[in-house]
Amino acid sequence: MDKELNYNYRIVKQFTIATVVWGVIGMLAGVFIAAQLAWPALNFDIAWLTYGRLRPLHTNAVIFAFGICGLFATSYYVVQRTCQVRLFSDKLAAFTFWGWQLVLVSAAITLPMGFTRGKEYAELEWPITLLIAVVWIAYAVVFFGTLIKRKVKHIYVANWFFGAYIIAVTLLHVVNGASMPVSMWKSYSAYAGVQDAMIQWWYGHNAVGFILTAGYLGMVYYFIPKQAERPVYSYRLSIVHFWALIFTYMWAGPHHLHYTALPDWTQSIGMVFSLILLAPSWGGMINGIMTLSGAWHKLRSDPLLKFMIVSLSFYGMATFEGPMMSIKTVNALSHYTDWGIAHVHSGALGWVGFITMGSIYYLIPRMSGKREMWSVRLVDLHFWVATIGVVLYIASMWIAGVMQGLMWRAVNADGTLTYTFVEGVKATYPYYVIRFTGGLLYLGGMVMMAFNTFKTMQDAQPVEARIPTLSTTHA
Ligand code: HEM
Ligand code: HEM
Repeated sequence: MDKELNYNYRIVKQFTIATVVWGVIGMLAGVFIAAQLAWPALNFDIAWLTYGRLRPLHTNAVIFAFGICGLFATSYYVVQRTCQVRLFSDKLAAFTFWGWQLVLVSAAITLPMGFTRGKEYAELEWPITLLIAVVWIAYAVVFFGTLIKRKVKHIYVANWFFGAYIIAVTLLHVVNGASMPVSMWKSYSAYAGVQDAMIQWWYGHNAVGFILTAGYLGMVYYFIPKQAERPVYSYRLSIVHFWALIFTYMWAGPHHLHYTALPDWTQSIGMVFSLILLAPSWGGMINGIMTLSGAWHKLRSDPLLKFMIVSLSFYGMATFEGPMMSIKTVNALSHYTDWGIAHVHSGALGWVGFITMGSIYYLIPRMSGKREMWSVRLVDLHFWVATIGVVLYIASMWIAGVMQGLMWRAVNADGTLTYTFVEGVKATYPYYVIRFTGGLLYLGGMVMMAFNTFKTMQDAQPVEARIPTLSTTHA
């Protein structure tokens, strides 16, 4: 059969499997560091097992490995189906897969060894940073090349979100990655002092905005209508909130630097834009949830839709909480505490994790020539176990965070501190154990997913979906 008449599913399948495998690894690292916070002796006095080295391993593994492999898989699938053409270049697409795995394996080796640029979410030393840039540009060529050769006139909205994420990450990575190497595994940032901090959090916040948000909204706009068999609730709203979102995110970074040496007016701009951000964020959430209008009953029996719709609820929660935390007086309480960790994980586990899982569950049978997952009941069990896990994680960290903030600021009548720091740590202990339990459940769900994936892909049938000749619908 002529290759050009078919979609390139091989690359989608590779990234789908990688998402599941890295998901288990990244979450295992998360559970391990959660355990270390409760029982510090778990670092075994071995340098590469210390918390400071494994924490970035966790964040890199969940965001860049689990998260971005999921985005590669879904964006490559969606861009082909909605443009009704095969990917622009199979070879370049294969290069993005192997190149990206090389980035991830290098990260998994160098981070525990202690090599780091010391910038959160941009820790990887300059040789890996360069490799990321090369792979990312190849990704952009494959994605936009496919858009250019599309057979359908209209560019479906999911591709707008994927496209924005690819372009923004190129910009963020190149600007924040600028550094001066002094040896093979050591470099210094090209910026100094508070400018360096500002660039770092411009990057950091937009990593949230464009990777952890825009990319996953791309998934929302394709997989929810598909799974629900309903059209997007309001196509107009999807375009309006797209432009509002990408314009606003770029300015909100300074909310990470409240009460620092950053000029006060800059902090205020960050706060104001963060508050505005509530509107386009909720526009997306409402549009996604309302897409289920007329198909609500499906939520009872379809675990994939449960993952997708609950993910949007967490998205709504995280994007309500974020603007509140960006208000300076609220941030004075929340910053440095576990409240931040609760916010991060309601977004990461509830939103990013769930929408990825729902979308990947959609892809796995289609990449294996099967009608559905090996066990749909196991998918349902995964959903419930993971949901209980998220709730335990974020509720414990919210309580711990507010408690810490209040204990740190409590003063006696004579102006001395009511509590020593260590009293705060001691009071947090039970919540760390609860968070560990929640994490373990969430990881348990991920392991179920890996097992179910393995079973579904066993004796998989070759899949060759032919490209439709008549461009009628968004296939
Ligand atoms: C089994 C699931 C998980 C567990 C048990 C877990 C646990 C942890 C722990 C213990 C920390 C360090 C907290 C601290 O320093 O006080 C952390 C940080 C972090 N995790 Fe997770 N995590 C999990 C899944 C995820 C996922 C799926 C993502 C992203 C998609 C994620 C993103 C992050 C980020 C961004 C941070 C850094 C937060 C910050 O610096 O404010 N985690 N995680
Ligand atoms: C309207 C949207 C959002 C706003 C305005 C917002 C705002 C904030 C604020 C104010 C902080 C605390 C900064 C600090 O005190 O240091 C924060 C931290 C964070 N948020 Fe959000 N947030 C939003 C949505 C999200 C979403 C959807 C995610 C997805 C996972 C997310 C991930 C994070 C992460 C990873 C951090 C920790 C950064 C760090 O210190 O390492 N946020 N956010």
